[in-house]
Amino acid sequence: MATSNRGQWSGKLGFILAASGSAIGLGNIWRFPYTAGENGGGAFVLLYLTFVVVIGIPLVLAELSVGRKTQLNPVGAFEKLSPGSKWPWLGKLGILTGFGILAFYSVIAGWTLWYLFEAITGGFSGEITPEVSAQMFTSMTSDPWLAIFLMGVFMILTIVIVQGGISAGIERTTKILMPLLLVILVVLAVRSVTLPGGMEGVAYLFTPDFSKIDFGVMMSALGQALFSLSLGMGAMITYGSYFPKDENLPQAGIIVAFFDTGIAVLAGLIIFPALFSVGIEPDGGPGLVFVVLPTIFNNLPAGGFFAIAFYALLAIAALTSTISLLEVVVAYFVDEKKWERKKASWVAGGACFVVAVPSALAAGGSAFFTDFMGFGIDFLSIQNNLWGNYSLSFGAVMLCIFVGWNWGIPKALESLEASGHKFAAAGVWGILVRYVCPAAIAIVLGYIVFTGTYF
Ligand code: PFF
Repeated sequence: MATSNRGQWSGKLGFILAASGSAIGLGNIWRFPYTAGENGGGAFVLLYLTFVVVIGIPLVLAELSVGRKTQLNPVGAFEKLSPGSKWPWLGKLGILTGFGILAFYSVIAGWTLWYLFEAITGGFSGEITPEVSAQMFTSMTSDPWLAIFLMGVFMILTIVIVQGGISAGIERTTKILMPLLLVILVVLAVRSVTLPGGMEGVAYLFTPDFSKIDFGVMMSALGQALFSLSLGMGAMITYGSYFPKDENLPQAGIIVAFFDTGIAVLAGLIIFPALFSVGIEPDGGPGLVFVVLPTIFNNLPAGGFFAIAFYALLAIAALTSTISLLEVVVAYFVDEKKWERKKASWVAGGACFVVAVPSALAAGGSAFFTDFMGFGIDFLSIQNNLWGNYSLSFGAVMLCIFVGWNWGIPKALESLEASGHKFAAAGVWGILVRYVCPAAIAIVLGYIVFTGTYF
């Protein structure tokens, strides 16, 4: 559990980029649009934004304060702050959740590689109708070996980077790639919004229909806010543990949250106008983004180039997130079990590959996993919900209780302000972490669990 030689970010900017790299990923560009589409659009988006501000930002700071104070992985961190207690189990749940998320996330990430390959080989040149696009998507996902292969390639990429240690490589890459991703997204959004009928999509995204709000929609919006900000499983504890002593932590955390949310909204501004313009239904599920995007590339000057750039960046955005997912698992085995980083990376990543196979087969590859045990829902969506909504929400409630009531707001604040920069919103933050966040999450999660409103 040595805390020396763990390394740290080169500065605030290094942290902001690495943490944004973790936060910004398929959650923003793949999960946000289709979840919004399944949950009625505007009402979901409004709830999501509210949850980001009221729950997400306070939790980012709560996790970061634990990480900075202890400079340890989640299990070690809880052990250090509350020795001899059961709290380290919360860290273990986080590590399991990271593993669980990686085991379906890598499947979608694999799909981005196939789309990149198609873009490079000219697969998106010419007019692509929604029908053709849907056909392309299904023929990829329903080929079992292809889906497993793509997921495997992505897992290996993740393992190779994590085994080499992450700071220098990731920091340097994200510094160039994140701004580039932003530029491409803005260009695509402008194109999409100005398509004929595009404004209808904008209206769908921003006009809340309050009659659509129920506990299911609230759960999805809450889960999405946590998932997108990489919260509820200790990723921000881990990343905060490398934060330099003399930099302003609250400010850096808030910037990451805004950056992440902005990218999600931008992705929405690409997807919804485009799908309204070509007449695709918004509730298309996990394939939505993959089906919609190819229909707009040829409406762009240099569309072929944009397609390649977009899928390359999407794959990279996914990679900077899968790295943080595997890193949480690996840091645990390295710190607590004294495994070599290389061994930890290959064993954890290899096990995750095996566990991910059913999810890879859940979009047509196998009838059993596509309509899981005849429940009418695919296995990947179950994993997505289980780990990405329920487990993160449970982890988030417990973290609030830990920081707000066990370790205590004054100590957490001391950690946030360790650089000498005062945190102006400290009072509000304390109230949110102690009362508002745990109560709100517990009500939503409790309702869903106790009423059996499953999925
Ligand atoms: N935040 C990532 C995304 O939006 O794609 C997903 C994620 C990464 C969730 C890391 C949780 C995590 F710890």
